[in-house]
Amino acid sequence: RGKRAFIAGIADDNGYGWAIAKSLAAAGAEILVGTWVPALNIFETSLRRGKFDESRVLPDGSLMEITKVYPLDAVYDCPEDVPEDVMSNKRYAGSSKWTVKEVAESVKEDFGTIDILVHSLANGPEVSKPLLETSRYGYLAAISASSYSYVSLLQHFIPIMNPGGASISLTYIASERIIPGYGGGMSSAKAALESDTKVLAFEAGRKHRVRVNTISAGPLRSRAAKAIGFIDMMIDYSSENAPLQKELSAEEVGNAAAFLASPLASAITGTVLYVDNGLNAMGVGV
Ligand code: NAI
Repeated sequence: RGKRAFIAGIADDNGYGWAIAKSLAAAGAEILVGTWVPALNIFETSLRRGKFDESRVLPDGSLMEITKVYPLDAVYDCPEDVPEDVMSNKRYAGSSKWTVKEVAESVKEDFGTIDILVHSLANGPEVSKPLLETSRYGYLAAISASSYSYVSLLQHFIPIMNPGGASISLTYIASERIIPGYGGGMSSAKAALESDTKVLAFEAGRKHRVRVNTISAGPLRSRAAKAIGFIDMMIDYSSENAPLQKELSAEEVGNAAAFLASPLASAITGTVLYVDNGLNAMGVGV
C-alpha cells in the first residue's frame, strides 16, 4: 500500500509545503492538505479552476492529486480555545472543524491512519520588528503559530500514525545565527522548533516508532517570505556566498523531505538537515 501524508501549511503553489507534497506524490504517496482557514477559499477555488495545473505536473507527466483539503488553524487546539470574535468572523464561520484536534479526528474518520506528517507553517505578526522592540503578544504569537503548532499537530496526529511513520517540519538558520530582519520572536520560535525536534523524536520514537526531523531550508520567495521583506536580499546573499552558487529551488527541499519520510532514512531521527546550498557551513561570506 502507498503511504498517506498530511501536509499542514499549503495555500498556494509557491511555498515549501507545495513542493514537499509534489515530491511525496511523485514517490507514490497519497496527499492530504491542511490549509489555513482564511486562505482556504482562494486556494480551493484556484485548485478547482486549474490555476495550479502547470505546477501540479509530476516528473512522469501526470498531475499531482490532492485527495482532500482540510481547513486548519493551528493556533487553536480545540473549539473551547477559539475566541468569540474569531468564531463569528466571516472567513471562519464559513468552515467548520478546523482546530487541530478536530482536523485529526476528521482525518481519522475519513482515512483511518496516516504515515507522514508535515508541518510547513509559520506566522509572526511582528516579524518585521527587531526582537528588542517586539511585544510580549507578538513574541508569544510567533511561538504559538510557529512552534507549539507543531507540538499540537504531532500530539493529535500521532495516535493515527502508523508505526514506522515520519514527521517533518521546516526551520531556518536564524534560530542559531544572527539574521538581522528575522524578528518578532521568529528566531526564537525556530530555536524552540529545533529543540523540540529532539525531545519529540525521543518521545515519538519510544512510544510510537515515529521519526521526527526538521529541515533547515535556505531562502525561498514564498508568500510568507515576501511578507518578511528581505527575501530577495537573502537569496542574493546565498547565491554570492554559499558553497553552491545557485538559487535554491523548492523542489530540492521537497526531495529532501521525501527522503527523510522514506525508509531510506529509517535510522535518522531528531536531526536538523540543512538544505541550503551549504550556506550554514560558511564562517564568513566571500
Ligand atoms: P508559505 O506561505 O508557503 O507557507 C506558510 C503557510 O503557513 C501558509 O500557507 C499560511 O497560510 C500558513 N499558516 C500561517 N498561519 C497558520 C495557522 N495559524 N494555521 C495554519 N496554517 C497557517 O511559506 P513558506 O516560506 O514555504 O513557509 C513554510 C515553512 O518553511 C515555514 O515554517 C517557514 O518558516 C519555513 N522556511 C521558509 C523559508 C523561506 O525562505 N521561505 C526558509 C526556511 C524555512
